[in-house]
Amino acid sequence: MLASGSGTNLQALLDTPGIRERIVIVVSDRPAAALDRAEQAGIPAAMVAYRDFPDRATFTEAVADVVEQSGAKGVVLAGFMRVLAPSFIERFPNRILNIHPSLLPAFPGHRAVEEALEQGVEVTGVTVHFVDEEVDHGPIVAQQAVRVEPDDTALSLHGRIQAIEHVLYPQVVKAFVDGRLSIEDGEVVRR
Ligand code: GRF
Repeated sequence: MLASGSGTNLQALLDTPGIRERIVIVVSDRPAAALDRAEQAGIPAAMVAYRDFPDRATFTEAVADVVEQSGAKGVVLAGFMRVLAPSFIERFPNRILNIHPSLLPAFPGHRAVEEALEQGVEVTGVTVHFVDEEVDHGPIVAQQAVRVEPDDTALSLHGRIQAIEHVLYPQVVKAFVDGRLSIEDGEVVRR
């Protein structure tokens, strides 16, 4: 599991029977509450600091090494704030999930909630997808819409989006760890 932030999605996964015991390590690129949550749950937590590496490629290899050495068979991203080099995808092909706070392909990037408000959309939402070489891109597994209210701020809208995330991501990750969700020939396959 890779997370750089508050780790509320990590917590939702930790609180889900059948997922918690499958999380073998939590990695962050910076000090993060997500690492504290992992430690409290008795799960190994590691920081691989971006500034300790000369470039994205070597940082990516270091993160991939830590993940591989943990024995993880798949990777779940939740608010990991560094873009990983393509070599990461090559090392875990079709085995990386991400959650994003918009209805992709609308509003990729780290300002998804703010941009939805700036554009005046009436509906935004949550996307869970397999990760490919592009940022916030890859085969979509699940989406759920969230209505934008006239008086929404980024904080209030993100709060409602996160409430959806905390239900949707455990559902998808459970299917993934149970082997009921995969990619075959670039297509999402559910069993
Ligand atoms: C989530 O909103 C997720 O969609 C985005 O980053 C946020 C992470 O939040 N990619 P948290 O650290 O899980 O609380």
